[in-house]
Amino acid sequence: MSHEFSLPTRPLGRTGWNATVITLGGVKWDTQVPEDEAIAIIRRAFELGINSVDTAHGYGGGQSEARLGIALQGWRDRVFLSTKTSQRSYDDAMREMELSLQRLKVDHVDLMVVHSLDNEEEYRQIMARPSVLDAMEKLRSEGHIRHIGVSGHWVKHVLQRIITEYPFDAVVCPIGAFNVAYNYTFHDTVIATARERGMAILGMKVYGAGRVKHAKSVEPYLRYSLHQPVDTLIVGADSIAQIEETVRIAASNPPPLSDDELASILPEAVAITQEFGDGEFRWTSHYLEPGAADS
Ligand SMILES: NC(=O)c1ccc[n+]([C@@H]2O[C@H](COP(=O)([O-])OP(=O)(O)OC[C@H]3O[C@@H](n4cnc5c(N)ncnc54)[C@H](OP(=O)(O)O)[C@@H]3O)[C@@H](O)[C@H]2O)c1
Repeated sequence: MSHEFSLPTRPLGRTGWNATVITLGGVKWDTQVPEDEAIAIIRRAFELGINSVDTAHGYGGGQSEARLGIALQGWRDRVFLSTKTSQRSYDDAMREMELSLQRLKVDHVDLMVVHSLDNEEEYRQIMARPSVLDAMEKLRSEGHIRHIGVSGHWVKHVLQRIITEYPFDAVVCPIGAFNVAYNYTFHDTVIATARERGMAILGMKVYGAGRVKHAKSVEPYLRYSLHQPVDTLIVGADSIAQIEETVRIAASNPPPLSDDELASILPEAVAITQEFGDGEFRWTSHYLEPGAADS
C-alpha cells in the first residue's frame, strides 16, 4: 500500500518486524473522544503508514483495547500489536491476558508487556516464580503471544536489573527531552543494556504525556526523540490532526537537534511541567523532587 507520507522504519529488536519510527499509543483516544472518533484516529494512523500500535489492559478501563479491537478489523496482519498486563501473579495475569485477547478480537498479540515495573516490591513479585512471566510463557508456547516485554517509567535501576535477569524481547521506557530536562534519562542503564541484549526498545513520553501542548512547538521534542537509540517512539494522540502532525514531522526526516537547540527547550520543558490544570496528567511530577524517582 502506498501512503501520502513515507515513514522510516527500523528493525524492532529481534522480533523480525520493521516498525515505523512512530507507534500509535493507546491512551487519550481511549477516554477523551467518543468511540467512533477513536476508531477514526486509529484507522487514520494506519492509513498514514503507522504499522505498530501499543495498548494496555488497563487503559481507559478496557476502552483502549476494545476500541482498538474494532479498528483493527481488516488491518491486523499489517500491524505489530502490543498490549500489557499490570498483574503480577500467574492466575491474575492469565485472566487479564485472556480478556485482552478477547477485547482485541485476536488470537495472538505480537508483544505482551509486563506493565509499569516501578519499584522493588513489584520486581520481587514478578521474579517470584510462578508469576506473570510463567503465564506469559504459557501463552507464548500456545501461540497467543509472540514476544515478551517489560515497561517502566520511574526507577531505571530496577528496570535495568530485570532485563539483565530475564531474557525479555522488548523494553518500553521514557525517551523524551523531558527526561533530559529532569536529568533522569535511561540511556546509560536500560537502553544500553537492552541494546547489548538485542531487545526491541520502544520509547515513550516524547511529548511529556501531553505537556507539549503548552510548548511553543512539538517539533523540537519529536526531533530530539527521533534521534535517540530506540527502535520506535510510542506517541499518543487524541485527534487526527495530532497524529497527522507527528507523522508529517517524522516523515520529513528532520535533522537531530543541535546542542544549542536542545539546551534552548529544556527550560521550557521544565516550565510547562511545573503546574498542572484540572485533569492534567502529572507524569513529570515524579521528577520534581530530586531523587524522588529512585525512591
Ligand atoms: N508502558 C507504559 O507503562 C506506558 C505508560 C504510559 C503510556 N504508554 C504508552 O505510551 C503512549 C504515549 O503516552 P505518553 O504518556 O508517552 O504520552 P506522549 O506521547 O508523550 O504525549 C501524547 C499527548 O501529547 C499531546 N499531543 C500529541 N500530538 C500533539 C500535537 N501535534 N500537538 C499538541 N499536543 C499533542 C496529546 O495530549 P492531549 O491528549 O492532552 O492533547 C497526546 O495525547 C501511550 O498512548 C501508551 O500507549 C505506556
